[in-house]
Amino acid sequence: MNTKKNIILIGPMGAGKSSVGKLLAQELRMDFFDSDEEIEKRTGVDIGWIFDVEGEGGFRRRETEIIAELTQLSNIVLSTGGGSVVAPENQRMLADRGLIIYLTISLPLQHHRTVNDSRRPMLRFGNRQEILEKLSRERGPIYEKLADHMVATDDLSVKAVVDDILNILPH
Ligand code: S3P
Repeated sequence: MNTKKNIILIGPMGAGKSSVGKLLAQELRMDFFDSDEEIEKRTGVDIGWIFDVEGEGGFRRRETEIIAELTQLSNIVLSTGGGSVVAPENQRMLADRGLIIYLTISLPLQHHRTVNDSRRPMLRFGNRQEILEKLSRERGPIYEKLADHMVATDDLSVKAVVDDILNILPH
């Protein structure tokens, strides 16, 4: 039997972690948390503002704190930010405290979904396609290493992705 009571969604920007997490939590009657949303609630400002004022380093510190806190809870669905898997400390907490589902997305679709997005600070400067490719090269292996299960999201509705996850969860 799997003793991990939390479900943790990881994966790149645009893979649908937040919308899938919300619906999955509803279906399973579990509480839902989104690490970015929690940071915004606690600070009262948006992620972009934190990047502007504190730099990425400041945001990553807050992200580690919130992951440490949220992963202490039980019976939750947690959607994480795309870069939350990079810090080894976060990797350990996520792996120890939940069943990890990696939502995958192809680069072209990720580009399409984020192209008009001004809210994602990692994509603000430089060529978006190149940034997405670089992040995918750097983070792809980490997502794979951490994942208990991988679920493809391309061409699927949020509901269909949630159904796929429900099918692979231990019954
Ligand atoms: C980031 C992804 C974002 C957010 C922040 C940094 C990243 O979350 O945490 O802008 O480094 O990939 P989403 O994956 O929900 O967009």
